[in-house]
Amino acid sequence: MARLRKVVFPVAGLGTRFLPATKVVAKEMLPVLDRPLIQYAVDEAVDAGADTLVFVTNRYKHSIADYFDSAYELEETLQRAGKHDLLATVQGLLPPRVRCVYVTQEQALGLGHAVLCARAVVGDEPFGIILPDDLIVNPGGPSALRQMAEFAPDTQAGVLAVEEVPRADTGKYGIVDVEPGGDRIRHMVEKPKPEQAPSNLAVVGRYVLPARIFELLEQTTPGAGGEIQLTDAIAALLGEAPVLAHRFTGTRFDCGNKKGMVRATLHFAAADPELRDLVRTPATDR
Ligand code: UTP
Repeated sequence: MARLRKVVFPVAGLGTRFLPATKVVAKEMLPVLDRPLIQYAVDEAVDAGADTLVFVTNRYKHSIADYFDSAYELEETLQRAGKHDLLATVQGLLPPRVRCVYVTQEQALGLGHAVLCARAVVGDEPFGIILPDDLIVNPGGPSALRQMAEFAPDTQAGVLAVEEVPRADTGKYGIVDVEPGGDRIRHMVEKPKPEQAPSNLAVVGRYVLPARIFELLEQTTPGAGGEIQLTDAIAALLGEAPVLAHRFTGTRFDCGNKKGMVRATLHFAAADPELRDLVRTPATDR
């Protein structure tokens, strides 16, 4: 499977780690330099071949739809002022062939529930999921989601992006147990203590999943924290279809917390000729 037509962005979370900013601004609109997190995520989906972007939002997050909408007055003003570069920037956020669809998650009942809200738009085909607060860069190479789409053997299989994390951090992630010498996931544990973790391979915010996951999500009862967990539905999928772990090429910044956001900002500043002198220490992922 090489191309993913539809990509879902679950962006209905409350973003409590960035309060008070996220009281009015969606976490996904927070910028790394001059581009919001959602723009990096959308660029990745487009690189993977997507033509339909499905945003699962909540009723407070109009800013994401406003951002991708055309801004007539602003464009007029830039045109009149002869600011053609800026005009091209605001007009070029999405390629013309790409459409955006917005669905509302009425209540924040968990990531699995948010994905289920996209069912009517995704229909009966494999799709991608990007959590925009995991920002993954692979300069000059294919995006993480594209790598995963190319890695999927067929339309029934799932692919999860995984990354090695320090043993001490397993309690923050879903951790996978992969068959020896292969990529197929045998087993998955949500947020295990280091001594109970089957490996140090953590699932990060990219998924390629078959439409079957929607039926499994419907059967999923609320798990940890009373939320419908995507991990529980994927655990059910493991028993009936290949679900592969893909160790993507690229660097991930966890922009769901302040440290990751600062690291991402330093990383992009170091690559910017106008800003690089401000950055004394090169940023690493952790
Ligand atoms: P997080 O666990 O990062 O939660 O959600 P959050 O609300 O975004 O942020 P904090 O922890 O309060 O700071 C992981 C992803 O799942 C989405 C979030 O928007 C984020 O992309 N999500 C989570 C939903 O869309 N709906 C939910 O009910 C829960």
